[in-house]
Amino acid sequence: MTRLREHNAWRFFAVLPKADHALAVAWWVVLVLRGVLPAAFAIAMGALVGAVQHGDSLSAPLTFTGAVFILLQTLSPIHQGISANLGDRTAAWLYDRLTEACVRPPGLGHLEDPKLSGDLTLAREFDRGMTGPPLSFAMDFIAGGLVEMIGGLACALVLFGYAWWAPIVLAGAWLATHWLLRESAVWRDRNTDEVRSAQRDADYAYRLAVDAAPAKELRLFGLAGWTLDRFVKRRTLLHALQYEATRLREKPMIWSLLLVAGANIVVFWSLAIAVGAGRLGFGEVVVFAQAAVGTSMIAFGGLSWALDGAAAPVAAVLRLEPAMRPAGALASGTRAVAGLPAREIRFRDVTFAYPGGKAVLDHFDLTIPAGSSLAIVGQNGAGKTTLAKLLCRLYDPQSGGIEIDGIDLRELSLESWRERVTAVF
Ligand SMILES: Nc1ncnc2c1ncn2[C@@H]1O[C@H](COP(=O)(O)OP(=O)(O)OP(=O)(O)O)[C@@H](O)[C@H]1O
Ligand SMILES: [Mg+2]
Repeated sequence: MTRLREHNAWRFFAVLPKADHALAVAWWVVLVLRGVLPAAFAIAMGALVGAVQHGDSLSAPLTFTGAVFILLQTLSPIHQGISANLGDRTAAWLYDRLTEACVRPPGLGHLEDPKLSGDLTLAREFDRGMTGPPLSFAMDFIAGGLVEMIGGLACALVLFGYAWWAPIVLAGAWLATHWLLRESAVWRDRNTDEVRSAQRDADYAYRLAVDAAPAKELRLFGLAGWTLDRFVKRRTLLHALQYEATRLREKPMIWSLLLVAGANIVVFWSLAIAVGAGRLGFGEVVVFAQAAVGTSMIAFGGLSWALDGAAAPVAAVLRLEPAMRPAGALASGTRAVAGLPAREIRFRDVTFAYPGGKAVLDHFDLTIPAGSSLAIVGQNGAGKTTLAKLLCRLYDPQSGGIEIDGIDLRELSLESWRERVTAVF
């Protein structure tokens, strides 16, 4: 159960009712209805053919067939609408989670940690669709795949009416294709460093190309072509990695073919013998032959890809919230700040490094008297902005401390301290 709950697909389906309970319920109800319709249609056709053969009244079987037929025609577009809406609502819910995860922590560490920013790029895939369709489209693919799965299983159930072993042989063979072709079903390498860095780079080049801020440099230095090349290379790499990882492999394909062909031959052979021996009526053979064909809907197909593509970013969003909280956490003090600093701000023996980096400030001391102006000048990367970030308490130093009139910044109420500070980064 734990492993199942940790599965991306499980997390994905668990998010749907949180995003919109009514739509999610409607989505599942229509899904199951659509799933059982092919089996119901096989039975309706069998009843109709049987009634014709025996010269019985046709009104009941014709009504039944008509009702199933109309449902078959109408439920698909209705479901498509529900899927699009549910996909949008789910994307909105995920946006809320993502926004909360980014905005809620008082510090900055969670937004500047390269490990988390990889997940952040992946998380935004749910609507940017660099490696798959956005959720409003993906929901319809997923629905279609699940309808086929339920449809195939329902048809297999009907086959129990023929022989206990027939659905086991047939559904077993079709189900086995999921196992045999499992390598092609999910993109397992999605979380490797190579994929994350290609994704981050593509994202970076994309923003360079479309945002106003870098537009000046792009023009001045003639970097438009360079930016585009970079974007195209990274995107192409992503697609190449994805398709390489999920392409169909020859051997499992051959095994799948043999298994499925064998199971179908056995079941249809047996049906033919039963009809030849007069053990099955016309109506019955119509039902069972259709059910046997319908069982093929279980086969490995688009569901796995659509679900994998939609579930991975959802799982990333859900991972980010608990991962970002501690990374951006800062304990607030309680001391009042009004009137400070009256005397001085003092960096006392401050050592600070960004996570995983070397020390930017190393036993650093600086006293800034209240009411004074101070310019800090230094090379790129010397640590000037870092000083300002520490002063705004966006990070805490690893050792030493920043004192405001002799009071450590960490003892002050964070919110009221920030009311006293202003900065233009
Ligand atoms: N979020 C971060 N994660 C890891 N390292 C960082 C981060 N921000 C800055 N650094 C590194 O810390 C060092 C100090 O950076 P900082 O931005 O404080 O320099 P700066 O003096 O403001 O530089 P500039 O003159 O370019 O504005 C640099 O080596 C920089 O690469
Ligand atoms: Mg700077």
